[in-house]
Amino acid sequence: MLHYVTIGVLIFTCYHCVMAIISDDDKNSKPRNIKNPNIKAESIEYDKSFENSIRPKDFDSYIGQGELKETLKITLEAAKKRGKPLDHLLFYGPPGLGKTTIAGVIASQMGVEIRITSAPALERPRDIIGILMSLKGGEILFIDEIHRLNKVAEEILYPAMEDFTLDMTTGKSQTAKTLRVPIPKFTLIGATTKAGELSSPLRDRFGMIHRLEFYTVEELAKVVTRTAKILEIRITEEGAKAIARRSRGTPRIANRLIKRVSDFAIVKYDGIIDERVANESLDILKIDTFGLDTTDRALLNLIIDKYDGGPVGVETIAAALSEDVRTIEDVCEPYLLQAGFLQRTPRGRKVSPEGYRHLGLKAPSEQINLF
Ligand code: ADE
Repeated sequence: MLHYVTIGVLIFTCYHCVMAIISDDDKNSKPRNIKNPNIKAESIEYDKSFENSIRPKDFDSYIGQGELKETLKITLEAAKKRGKPLDHLLFYGPPGLGKTTIAGVIASQMGVEIRITSAPALERPRDIIGILMSLKGGEILFIDEIHRLNKVAEEILYPAMEDFTLDMTTGKSQTAKTLRVPIPKFTLIGATTKAGELSSPLRDRFGMIHRLEFYTVEELAKVVTRTAKILEIRITEEGAKAIARRSRGTPRIANRLIKRVSDFAIVKYDGIIDERVANESLDILKIDTFGLDTTDRALLNLIIDKYDGGPVGVETIAAALSEDVRTIEDVCEPYLLQAGFLQRTPRGRKVSPEGYRHLGLKAPSEQINLF
C-alpha cells in the first residue's frame, strides 16, 4: 500500500516538476501551422458529430477493408487470450477511409476506452505527457495526423511506447536527474495520410502497419444503404450504387453525398432516392460520373491549359488554385492518381491520356499534328 502511495506521490511530484521544466521547452516547440490548419473543411473537419452518429461499432457493421479486419480479429483475440494490451498500430492512407472508425471498433471489441487526439494538438511536451499520465491500463490512445508530431513529443513517446515509462528530467544542467516514471500499459493507434513522413524510429515502434484501401463501388453502396437506414432515408439499390459510383472510393464522401441527395429527393422529387434522382442531384452538385468535383477538374484543366499537360510542381498548382499544398496532396491527388487521371513524375504532376479523355479532350499523343 505504502509502495503505491509513494509511487503516486512521486508521479504527482514529477508531473508538476516536469511541467515546470517543460514550460522552458515550449519556446522551442514547433509553431502551429497558422496558414491553413484545417485543410479542406469538408475533408477533415467535416461534421464530426454526424460522422460519429453513423460510425460502425463492431467488425460486422464495418464494411470493406476485409484483409485488415481479418488480421485485426486474430490480433485482438490473441491479445485478449494473453491478457495483454494490443501492440501499437499504425494506419495510413488517404483521408476519409475509416482510420478513426476502425480504431473505435478495435476499442469497443477490446472493451476499453479510446482517447482521440491529433498531432497538432500535442504541440507542447505537457500536452502529450498529460495524456499519457491520465491513461488507464489497456486504454487506446489514437493520434491522428501522427506524421505532424514534433521531435520533442516523439521523443517522449519512444519510452512510453516501448517500456511504458516516461523519462523525466528534473533540475538544471549539472544537477539534472533523469527519472523513469512508469505509466499504465496502453496501445497507441497512429493514423496518417503520409506514412513516408514518419521518422523511422517512430515507425519502427509500431507492431502492425496497415494501409487502408479505397472502397469498391459495391462496398460503398453497402455503406450508403446502411447510412440511409440509420438516417431513415428511402433509397433503392440502384440509387445507392449511383451515389457510390461518384464517391471517389471514400465512405466519408458517400455519407456526405447521401445527405445532399436526400435534400434534393425531398424538395424536388417524391422523397425516394432512385438512380435518376441520385444522378440528377449529383449533376446539379457538379459531382461528375467519376466523383470529381469542381476543384479536381480545375486542377486537371489548369495543368492542361497552362502547362501543356505538365509536368508542373505541386506548389505552382496550389498557388494557381488558391489552395493549400496539403489540400492538393492529401485530398485531391490520391483519388486522381488512383483513377489514373494524374501521374506523379520526378519533375512534377502530369495529366494522363485518361485524364484528358475524362474531360472530353484528346491527349497530346492523339492530336493530329498539321505541321
Ligand atoms: N461509415 C463510414 N465508414 C464506414 C464503414 N467502413 N462501414 C460502414 N459504415 C461506415
